[in-house]
Amino acid sequence: MTDYKKDFPLLAGSDIAYLDNAATAQRPEAVLKAVEDFYTKKNANPLRGLYELGIEATEAYEAARERVREFINAGKTSEVVFTRNSTESLNLIAYSYGLTSLKAGDEILISIDNHHSNILPWQMVSRQTGAKLVYLECQPDGSYRDEDMEALVTEKTKIAAMPQISNVLGRRNPVEKLTKLVHEKGGVIVIDAAQSAPHIPVDVQALDADFLVFSGHKLMAPMGIGVLYGKETLLDAMPPFLTGGEMIDSVSRESAVFAELPHKFEAGTVNGGGAVGLQAAIDYLMNVGFDEVRKREELLTTRAMTAMQQIPGVHIQGSDKPEEHNGIISFTVDGVHPHDIASILDAANVNVRAGHHCAQPLLKHLGVFATARASFAFYNTEEDIDRFVQNLKEIRRKMGYGE
Ligand code: ALA
Repeated sequence: MTDYKKDFPLLAGSDIAYLDNAATAQRPEAVLKAVEDFYTKKNANPLRGLYELGIEATEAYEAARERVREFINAGKTSEVVFTRNSTESLNLIAYSYGLTSLKAGDEILISIDNHHSNILPWQMVSRQTGAKLVYLECQPDGSYRDEDMEALVTEKTKIAAMPQISNVLGRRNPVEKLTKLVHEKGGVIVIDAAQSAPHIPVDVQALDADFLVFSGHKLMAPMGIGVLYGKETLLDAMPPFLTGGEMIDSVSRESAVFAELPHKFEAGTVNGGGAVGLQAAIDYLMNVGFDEVRKREELLTTRAMTAMQQIPGVHIQGSDKPEEHNGIISFTVDGVHPHDIASILDAANVNVRAGHHCAQPLLKHLGVFATARASFAFYNTEEDIDRFVQNLKEIRRKMGYGE
């Protein structure tokens, strides 16, 4: 196997088995270098400075936007808005589109496996407009049935929200099917690609996505840079989310004319370093290639699941097929709190997340209050998996249970 860890300063030569990649990825040297280059060679306030350095900062920032456009195959850069993260992108959609478009009697369809960030903004829209929240429930393995989607999508469905890949179950969702149904009834789809963009090709035109969001930090970019994709016709008609500097054409004492897309939605000083870091992360990821990413993640997931299925008292949530997990395994151990699982593994330098993963409605639906979650990236190794499994085998004994 290619040694990718050598590209990641935090992992190279370290003993950490970092298996919390769904929470945030590690950053390769190329990304850290790109951020450093921006601040050491191009630092001025992008979109404002008319002097040479300012122009270079603006060009670097806009080149990053073009790289994102290409990465998600958006038609135009005006459809690519930089935000802080998926959460901010989703709130932008809810405040600027949801609040202005919905009314009492309308419905917002939310798939149960959404992260809280694609649920709470819609609860706010529902409270303020009177629109009703309708939940699309998954099967115990995380799959969605066509008949459930067909029954719940109606002329009342103005917005449907679904993650392309669940952050708890790792399962790839039928966003294409849901989008088609929603469009037939005249609604719009909001796709959360936070967990999918680092693992599978995302093509907003092929998906016919109205809105799609993702975060840079799960894709090896710095924290604090995220993306909102929106169809130009929708973004154009929406009022700004935040108001302030550089999102205007002109301002009088009483009013303002807002800037063209995408700058209308980028009030204040932008995250130039984050944007060029995201560009470098996309370059790095594309250089590895999604085929390699998939091959490695499937190999690691299969190795882990095959071993975990043999351990008494360990239960994996969702599908029993490794290829349906996209590198994410949520699990419980009989009689052991997930926080204890994470602490015991941490003592062996194995990092997993424990808790509700910001997806409480899904966990409740699955009948578990919390899980531990191991999530893999292409730079993880078979040794990482083996150390994880080895220590998982010991947990019940360490907690005082018999074999
Ligand atoms: N949403 C991130 C996760 O699933 C933080 O861990």
